[in-house]
Amino acid sequence: VRAQGRHWRTIWPAADGRAVEVIDQRVLPHRLEAVRIGTLAEAVAAIAGMTVRGAPLIGVTAAYGLALQAAEDPGDEAMAQAAQRLKAARPTAVNLAWAVDRLVAGLSGVPPGHRARRAWQDAGDLADEDVATNAAIGRHGLSLLRELATRCGGRRLQLLTHCNAGWLATVDWGTALAPVYAAAEAGIDLHVWVDETRPRNQGAALTAWELREQGIDCTVIADNAGGHLMQRGQVDAVIVGCDRVTADGDVCNKIGTYLKALAAHDNGVPFLVAMPLSTLDTGLSDGLREVPIEERPQREVTHVRGRDARGADAEIQLVPDGTRAANPAFDVTPARLVTRLVTERGVVPATRDGLRALGSAA
Ligand code: MRU
Repeated sequence: VRAQGRHWRTIWPAADGRAVEVIDQRVLPHRLEAVRIGTLAEAVAAIAGMTVRGAPLIGVTAAYGLALQAAEDPGDEAMAQAAQRLKAARPTAVNLAWAVDRLVAGLSGVPPGHRARRAWQDAGDLADEDVATNAAIGRHGLSLLRELATRCGGRRLQLLTHCNAGWLATVDWGTALAPVYAAAEAGIDLHVWVDETRPRNQGAALTAWELREQGIDCTVIADNAGGHLMQRGQVDAVIVGCDRVTADGDVCNKIGTYLKALAAHDNGVPFLVAMPLSTLDTGLSDGLREVPIEERPQREVTHVRGRDARGADAEIQLVPDGTRAANPAFDVTPARLVTRLVTERGVVPATRDGLRALGSAA
């Protein structure tokens, strides 16, 4: 997509071929800056510290992390340890483990001396595949949005999204926002309500930024406002991404997604989940109990970060000194609350049969 007048991906090989560069998502929306990742340790830190975030993007970053390790020490033990460290950097999004396992599988049987080259190639392929996958999600989602827009009878389509499942969360296009970009390009008049997404405010900081850069009309709302807007008929559909989907179609995504799904269900608003197949975890069936939920630092809840009146980065404390906070970063939305899953292979119901059908889809 385009931002500030030029085309960007979120991650790209550095000109010297010895590192990757990524957009630093910790400083958006106030600064658009790239940082260099040149070692395995830097890749792990970028994922854990959320320089990069979003399920597909952390997978691709991990793949490059393995390639950087292979350039340093491609031996079996070093590579196995690197894979473990990368997988442990963030526990919930299954794309991370999926990408690492895929790279490792590709390297099995490759002599150590050839691993760096092969891993670099495979990581690049994974990045390109992510772009193609998201473009396909965009095309399939566009058909749904067209139908919804037709029902609007001439007034603009009103969507609501949570967190950031846009191009910043992927290599390009995004998952939940890919259909939005496709719809805007197809001339569908639309507006997006953007949940601020406390505690890290990925909606307010990242989704609002990227939608505005694409010229898409959006309004940031407090997370608590969505249910009210749905009751008033001001939301035609909710569309979100996901971090792990179980074989039964339960959807783990950013904390607060479940509450939006409940409100959507209560108000007959379609609740759509954009899901690349790399997010499907067929090893799990009971989403509520089995998905590992990341617990993040208390400080993300007790403080907020932003830009002060003088334009400087600032962090302020919200709570009384010494107050304890809990910070579960994801929740699970039961499949019964999900209207449709939008994948790169088509749109299916969030059921075991729906997901099975994808396996055989062309
Ligand atoms: O903690 P984050 O910012 O990595 O969480 C991201 C989300 O929950 C996204 O909705 C999800 O990864 C889908 S991204 C296409």
